[in-house]
Amino acid sequence: MHGPAMRDGNSPFRSRYAGWQFTLSEPMAYRLVMGILRLSHVDIMVTDLELAAAYYTQVMGLDISERTKDRIFFKCWDERDHHCLAVRLDTRVGLDRFAFKVEHADDLSHFESRIEAAGHPVERVADGEEVGQGESIRFELPSGQEMELVADVHKVGGRMPLKNPPPMVPDLVGIAPPRIDHVLMHAEEVPVIARFFTEVLDFRLTEQLLNGSGHQVIAFLERSAKPHDIAFVQGPNGALHHFSFWLDDWDHVRRAADILAYNGVTIDVGPTRHGLTRGNTIYFFDPMGTRNEVFTGGYRPDPDFPTITWTQEEEGRAVFYYEGVLNQRFATVHT
Ligand SMILES: [Fe+2]
Repeated sequence: MHGPAMRDGNSPFRSRYAGWQFTLSEPMAYRLVMGILRLSHVDIMVTDLELAAAYYTQVMGLDISERTKDRIFFKCWDERDHHCLAVRLDTRVGLDRFAFKVEHADDLSHFESRIEAAGHPVERVADGEEVGQGESIRFELPSGQEMELVADVHKVGGRMPLKNPPPMVPDLVGIAPPRIDHVLMHAEEVPVIARFFTEVLDFRLTEQLLNGSGHQVIAFLERSAKPHDIAFVQGPNGALHHFSFWLDDWDHVRRAADILAYNGVTIDVGPTRHGLTRGNTIYFFDPMGTRNEVFTGGYRPDPDFPTITWTQEEEGRAVFYYEGVLNQRFATVHT
């Protein structure tokens, strides 16, 4: 048996893998750079720690994994990492930073070089310097938010056993999402931040909205085969619009609305459905004014998924498909 012919003295496998990137992680062992896996955690400021603890455990239904003097760390019941949300006591509300998780420690140096080559200084965060978190890199986005890539978040385990697990946990309280899903930020120049995420961080653009002049004002970006892991909407640099938790079913979104209304939580929009992502959603505010969302549905984009484009005249349906209009509070309130 003869294998495929060699061309130009190169292995026939060489062209098949052209463009893939390898790093040397151990002597004689090459490893494919997997890059960014998923949203790891969002760190926000709150004005009342006890109120935040009560709301995020009893209404949102998260578990507290650790407390320090001025911070509380929360996780969802089906997550095994130390936290997906950290709140820090401050006199104002807003975003401290957010982090995405990479597959391997080598990915940090890979992205450190790329981010610095793109003109953004990168700071190394040592293992243990941040609570619950291993070695990380930290940098400021072109849109002003502080972002981290983290290779190792301490494993604290979930409520679900890894051996013979049941399909549900019987004693959950509140909305109780199984995991965090995505985050939405503002950027003055959406094309600039979308290019940073696609060209430097290897995200894929799933959907965009172009205004009447053809200028990109909304960009949805993914790394984990879902409609978005992060999205940017034109608005003030540095601002957070919302972070969102996953629910497994549309009926869980309706149940979330019941729980929110019962607890007197201010509902912003929904339950309703997005045109962008095709997801089912409800938006609401935590007691200090940070917008939360719980979300389900949507499609599953493969890496060759073509970008979907929305136009200005369909903006209302793009954002809220049933209502067909964008309410002013949703369009203007952020932290
Ligand atoms: Fe969202």
